[in-house]
Amino acid sequence: MKVLFVNGCIRGASSRTLGLCRAALEEIEAKYPGCQVEELVLDQETDLAPLRSDTLALRAELEEAGTFDHPMFRYARQFAGADLVVLGAPYWEYQFPALVRCYLEHISVGGVTFTYGEDGRPHGLCKAGRLLYITTAGGPILDRNCGFDYVKTLCGQMLQIPSIQWVGAECLDVWGEDVAARLAQAETSLRETVRSWD
Ligand SMILES: Cc1cc2nc3c(=O)[nH]c(=O)nc-3n(C[C@H](O)[C@H](O)[C@H](O)COP(=O)(O)O)c2cc1C
Repeated sequence: MKVLFVNGCIRGASSRTLGLCRAALEEIEAKYPGCQVEELVLDQETDLAPLRSDTLALRAELEEAGTFDHPMFRYARQFAGADLVVLGAPYWEYQFPALVRCYLEHISVGGVTFTYGEDGRPHGLCKAGRLLYITTAGGPILDRNCGFDYVKTLCGQMLQIPSIQWVGAECLDVWGEDVAARLAQAETSLRETVRSWD
């Protein structure tokens, strides 16, 4: 079983989101002994850039030819081959860091992660049965997690990953909040979520 951990926790070792991701991965490794965890640290992907006219044209040409061995498709190929995806990202600008958006642009490749059927609708080509999204926010988000809403729409409707869940902690930068308790609660919830999977 291949687990892909997409690490969008830009602050690195001090990231609270990353701490929650590590707990989730620990639980995943306990649940699926022998699983292979591959970690993609977006902050270290120095050539991860938004599509521009030149890269878009090349991508369209290769998509048209059905040729996907070009390095520009490496993120899409890796994503398509994972059985389980863990995506960790802090809540930035009501969503997530731009590097995560950039990554999502690169995995959304017709012919690798999805294809359009004769009905004109997208059909998923990813192996993954689940995606777990982990975030932490400075303020309140439980009533509306725009980052997760977007990931769920893209990965659910277009890539058609059947189960997409999120767990996180909110209000971590609100004065007077018991941050340690909020993180502990999120960690418990994450571990319970993983244990509850079939
Ligand atoms: C660039 C930036 C943008 C942020 N935008 C938001 C936001 O829109 N809403 C919010 O509640 N918190 C926002 N925050 C606060 C973070 O969500 C919060 O501190 C989070 O726990 C950081 O996660 P980390 O410890 O994993 O880096 C922002 C923080 C940064 C650095």
